[in-house]
Amino acid sequence: MRILITGATGLIGSELIRLSIERGWEVNFLSRQRKRIEEGNSQIRGFYWNPATSEIDIRCFEGVDAIVNLAGNNVAHRWTERYKDAILDSRINSLRTLRHALKRSGNTSISHIISASAIGIYPSSLTKLYTEEGPFAQDFLGQVVQQWEREVDTFAAMDLSVTKLRIGLVLATEAGALAPMIKSVKSLTAAPFGNGKQWQSWIHCEDVANMFMFCIEKKCKGVFNAVAPNPIIQKKLLKEVARSLRRPLILPGAPKFLMKLILGEMVTLLFSSQRVSSKKIETLGFTFAHRTINSAIESLLSK
Ligand SMILES: NC(=O)c1ccc[n+]([C@@H]2O[C@H](COP(=O)([O-])OP(=O)(O)OC[C@H]3O[C@@H](n4cnc5c(N)ncnc54)[C@H](OP(=O)(O)O)[C@@H]3O)[C@@H](O)[C@H]2O)c1
Repeated sequence: MRILITGATGLIGSELIRLSIERGWEVNFLSRQRKRIEEGNSQIRGFYWNPATSEIDIRCFEGVDAIVNLAGNNVAHRWTERYKDAILDSRINSLRTLRHALKRSGNTSISHIISASAIGIYPSSLTKLYTEEGPFAQDFLGQVVQQWEREVDTFAAMDLSVTKLRIGLVLATEAGALAPMIKSVKSLTAAPFGNGKQWQSWIHCEDVANMFMFCIEKKCKGVFNAVAPNPIIQKKLLKEVARSLRRPLILPGAPKFLMKLILGEMVTLLFSSQRVSSKKIETLGFTFAHRTINSAIESLLSK
């Protein structure tokens, strides 16, 4: 098996490369960073692309069975109007660059594309439990994710099977939402966001990477939530991190208006609440290594 990964230098991509190599798979990856491409070897081959200018090394498709698409500007930055455009454009341009190049290459070995999507497609709610059926949010992130998914769907016209994984809050120690949380708990500056009752549908980094591999191996088509079976509220997640690090939580909840002054519109990410179901992928036989937050945090913090 050889897979082509876009956005491979990021949090999920790095874990996916690690697990693929462990399983004896071969990896091609696309990166905008020429230095990272040079780090490749016979099992991992890097190729240059720049979706902003539609540049791509077409040799990236050689010998590939499936594409994993993870590329996109990180959403956890201040949402200026310019950056909001970049969040959407980076995702659309990446998929278009891939699709046009794949068409030009005349490749016939690639039969499947599995793309990242996000649970930000669901409206914020403290009470609803979301399945893949929706409903879908009309705010900025909701619209970005819907456009992103529609762009992934265009690969079906090229006879590729299309899979979209709506990823939740990915837990890892090196990057993502958990890293700053650990830092603030250690320095006793951690506080819940508001009353901390917003649902966090999290997933361990290893489980999300494994889910991409599961979908490739089992040829799962369609859309699946990539979240662990037991979402928790934000306050509980923080408590679990503090318990594992044996530190007290001493500060009261940080008010939304104050955080909005500091972070701007992006504060939405911290206050939105999505309780999302993992049932659909489990019905197909996917098993989580980390079903509870306790198991996930213990495994990450004991590394
Ligand atoms: N982590 C989460 O909690 C989470 C949750 C929901 C959804 N997701 C989605 O899953 C995907 C992967 O997540 P991640 O956490 O691994 O992301 P990440 O760490 O931010 O990495 C994303 C990768 O995308 C590439 N990239 C960045 N800007 C780009 C641009 N303008 N054009 C093309 N490529 C660009 C970069 O690779 P190069 O610099 O090598 O080109 C980067 O390594 C993302 O699309 C993200 O939105 C993640």
